[in-house]
Amino acid sequence: MKFLVETIGCQQNEYDASRLAIFLKSAGFIKSTAKEAGVIFILACSVRQMAVDRIIGRIRNWQRDGKKIYITACVTDDDKKKFTKKGVTYFKDFDELSNILGLKAISYKLTADSCYVPIMTGCNNFCSYCIVPYTRGREKSRSTNEIIKEVTQLISNFSTVQYGSEKPKIILLGQNVNSYEYGFAELLKKINDLPGDFIISFMSNHPKDMKADVIDAIAKLPKVNKEIHLPLQAGSDKILKAMNRPYTAEEYLRLVESLKSKVPKVKLTTDIIVGFPGETEEDFQQTVKVCKKVGFSLAYINKYSPRKGTASYKLGDPIAWSEKQRRWKILDNLINKNK
Ligand code: 5AD
Ligand code: SF4
Repeated sequence: MKFLVETIGCQQNEYDASRLAIFLKSAGFIKSTAKEAGVIFILACSVRQMAVDRIIGRIRNWQRDGKKIYITACVTDDDKKKFTKKGVTYFKDFDELSNILGLKAISYKLTADSCYVPIMTGCNNFCSYCIVPYTRGREKSRSTNEIIKEVTQLISNFSTVQYGSEKPKIILLGQNVNSYEYGFAELLKKINDLPGDFIISFMSNHPKDMKADVIDAIAKLPKVNKEIHLPLQAGSDKILKAMNRPYTAEEYLRLVESLKSKVPKVKLTTDIIVGFPGETEEDFQQTVKVCKKVGFSLAYINKYSPRKGTASYKLGDPIAWSEKQRRWKILDNLINKNK
């Protein structure tokens, strides 16, 4: 049977997609193009409505072509019902998929081209706009031993693969790696001490949890990338509070100062949401001000998208799309253009 794995959303999904493809291949499936595939597996993302709509459109086309569709990853309970009604099969994990497809549980192996390593899944933060704690569940950290074993295997594969002049990268994943249960700074040190010439990156960080031990680790461990992703979301204290992001613009800037002074070559990237309910022009200008002070090298700017089931859903979506677009453009010009 020919299959295709379709991925949208974050790096966690990309990692899971590569594991799923390996799993399917080991079970006798053949990877192919969307046109030829008889079965399509979707790693879904519910973070913004646009991604959900796009997937629904594609499912319609694929079903018209007679393909069987399976879906997993970040799916809300409502959407699970919606997909099931359309004849799409939801599965939670490999075990469930094995049962559905009647496959024997087969162990799978990571390949060299997959350099994402999840160190934890889920999220406990409940930012008021975000669906992830509902779709992915609570935080669960993998043991340090398991992570070190996986990274060691990846590194051993690196030596046999051509990477050109680029050093291979190990990217540690988690919604909030700073709250890794068994100590994130210690984990960085252990991975840094493994033999081999590679770079360690990680994402995402939460400003409320990035403490001095992690900053010191970034500063002194030679293999740790000096580009840090530190989601700001908003520069107005009022909006940060409404977002349930427990820090102020001032505290964020202090954290940035500490990073800049201890890690001289540090580059910062960020996530921002424009058009959160109640964000006035003045609030937005606070975001612009913080961005100017920090000098981000890149920003992922998102237009607010209300997600049913989240705390901020009840606030509606009072800011017009055109206004969100205007704010998006201002930040995009400021941060991402002319680079
Ligand atoms: N609307 C817009 N952007 C969102 N994000 C998360 N939820 C929403 C939402 N409802 C953004 C945040 C987060 C990134 C992964 O996606 O900026 O950091
Ligand atoms: Fe969502 Fe906030 Fe958790 Fe990030 S930290 S996944 S934005 S709830």
